[in-house]
Amino acid sequence: MKLLLFAGSLRKDSLNKKLLAVAHKILEAKGGLETVLIDLQPLTLPVYDGDIESAGLPENVKMLGQLIDEADALLIASPEYNGSISGALKNTVDWVSRLKPMPLSGKPVLLMGTSPGGLGAVRGLLHSKSPFEKLNNYVYPDVFGIPHGDKAFTATGALEDEATRKRLAALIDKYLDFAGAFAKKKN
Ligand SMILES: Cc1cc2nc3c(=O)[nH]c(=O)nc-3n(C[C@H](O)[C@H](O)[C@H](O)COP(=O)(O)O)c2cc1C
Repeated sequence: MKLLLFAGSLRKDSLNKKLLAVAHKILEAKGGLETVLIDLQPLTLPVYDGDIESAGLPENVKMLGQLIDEADALLIASPEYNGSISGALKNTVDWVSRLKPMPLSGKPVLLMGTSPGGLGAVRGLLHSKSPFEKLNNYVYPDVFGIPHGDKAFTATGALEDEATRKRLAALIDKYLDFAGAFAKKKN
């Protein structure tokens, strides 16, 4: 199974990129999975604008669409902004949704996130489900949030709390079963 991982935050020191890196390590340690971790920041996708689209879809939208198309499942770590989906994630989904054929359709998605606040981005993740559900993704029912994300990682990027790491690893196992069922159907 091939998994594509990206964060819904662009900034270099993103807590969500740290969370994604931990998830990536958990996946790599399993063996037998292909993982592709990408950073949306260098793609510099413009804010969706129908005039830009009319002039031709940005090359990086096509490139991202290709990566999504090649993946069996997605894993996304995203912050919440004002209790909802991050603008970067929504903009990315909006661009990709303009591709034909639309590569998100039928892909399993796991949403996770972290924030310095006490709810760990969970409110935003629940909102983040909506565009994926609209686009016929199979969104994993559970979302995973880490509260107080500013204190959750060691200097080397590991999770401070082993119980949290175990909870994440257990969720990833369940997600792989879920996503594997769809991947089998497809192949
Ligand atoms: C515009 C904006 C809105 C935010 N709204 C929320 C919020 O509703 N809930 C929350 O927990 N954190 C909120 N935050 C704080 C972010 O969770 C925090 O900046 C986080 O570190 C962003 O994720 P990142 O570290 O992956 O970039 C907000 C930050 C910004 C810039």
